[in-house]
Amino acid sequence: MTPEEINKVLEIPDWDTASAVKVTEAKFIYDFIKEKGIERTLEVGFAFARSASHIMAASGKQHYACDPFQDTYAGMGLKNLEKLGMREQLTFFPDFSHNVMPAMHKEGKEFQFIFLDGDHKFDGILVDFYYADLLLEQGGYVLMHDTWMRSTRLVERFVQTNRKDFKKIDTPLRNFSLFQKVGKDERNGMFFKEFWTLQSLFTHNVIIWLTQGKQTWLKKMVFKLKDLLK
Ligand SMILES: C[S@@+](CC[C@H](N)C(=O)[O-])C[C@H]1O[C@@H](n2cnc3c(N)ncnc32)[C@H](O)[C@@H]1O
Repeated sequence: MTPEEINKVLEIPDWDTASAVKVTEAKFIYDFIKEKGIERTLEVGFAFARSASHIMAASGKQHYACDPFQDTYAGMGLKNLEKLGMREQLTFFPDFSHNVMPAMHKEGKEFQFIFLDGDHKFDGILVDFYYADLLLEQGGYVLMHDTWMRSTRLVERFVQTNRKDFKKIDTPLRNFSLFQKVGKDERNGMFFKEFWTLQSLFTHNVIIWLTQGKQTWLKKMVFKLKDLLK
């Protein structure tokens, strides 16, 4: 199936248009997996299965995903896969990544591509990155979503400064951070490099201000302006 065909079938409800990756982002993931010939894939944060369905269509192989809150999404991710005829191609764990990923590592599972789009708090993403590293084979990729968030940017910065065994790969999409595992972690126990970044400081705070708290005339004006500029 092509991304166009998938998106015709996928149902993303009006009550949550923000959670799923964007159509352009899903297309990027699809093209990337196809181009690299990736077969072994894992995803943290399944929600409506937009990313999952694109990963599965591109690889044509079994995909692994975990998400403890599929009920919150009215089971729509799994229903979407049923409709696409892809349900059998997914091994789904209705559980937190901090339970699923260590268990997979203990079993000796390895992946070529891991998509992190689950808990978006700094420590949640860092823990997911930690386990993604253990689960990635040499040359494998980890892709993090939502770099508009300070939390994601800081994890990205941590990897860039402290993990020389990971190489940052530029993508045309600003909301992604992609790394390839290119070596072994050879830090000694004393190794630590400070990491900080200005990137996303502005975006994060503006988006939080716009989307949380009381609606004000100023916020409404900003939304109207955004619609006009579309
Ligand atoms: C932004 S949505 C993912 C969207 C999805 N990638 C898509 O394209 O449809 C984030 C998801 O992460 C899940 N999540 C939150 N914390 C998690 C955790 N610790 N482990 C696994 N999934 C988690 C949420 O339930 C939610 O479904």
